Amino acid sequence: MTKQHLTIIDHPLVQHKLTIMRKKDVSTAGFRRLLREISLLLAYEVTRELELTTTTIETPICEMQAPTLEGKKLALISILRAGNGLLDGILEMIPSARVGFVGLYRDPETLQPVEYYCKVPNALDARMTIVVDPMLATGNSSVAAIDKLKEHGAKNLRFLCLLAAPEGVERMREAHPDVPVFTAALDERLNDHGYIVPGLGDAGDRMFGTK
Ligand code: URA
Repeated sequence: MTKQHLTIIDHPLVQHKLTIMRKKDVSTAGFRRLLREISLLLAYEVTRELELTTTTIETPICEMQAPTLEGKKLALISILRAGNGLLDGILEMIPSARVGFVGLYRDPETLQPVEYYCKVPNALDARMTIVVDPMLATGNSSVAAIDKLKEHGAKNLRFLCLLAAPEGVERMREAHPDVPVFTAALDERLNDHGYIVPGLGDAGDRMFGTK
């Protein structure tokens, strides 16, 4: 069975919270709180296919074979800096996950992403690796981050965002057809400045209160 490349997480709570986050007059504190809450719900969906095994435990009543996660702890990779907003909530749900960071900036001349930081957990080849960045816009930084993670051995990857533009989804599908994309919404398009329309503005600025 081929894996679905794009999953829209259409849970009513996710959709409701996202609508509030899109509003331009939501405060930094409100945006952050909603992002944390929505991250918990997104984490639930993106980890649905984690493998289970069984272990013997004793309840107060008897011994039983109980389900438990199989294999190595999963890896969460935040694309700096906005990825950190999604990361915090997901870590509350999966506190034992290993965490890595990839930092990229856009070269003003070539407009291509250039890496300035990369620190990732060991044994990525044996971990489900979830890459987080709230906005999948052009897809350039997501594709570059995943290129890098594959160089480090990652094989079982997922990409999780809050909003995606069709352009970014297409770019990911072309470059990394083996990496399923999870998003709360697929918006209309990118504008001339590379912002998602209707979108929610600059996710990093809104979560950190910068401008
Ligand atoms: N990054 C953002 O923060 N917002 C967009 O709309 C696109 C990229």
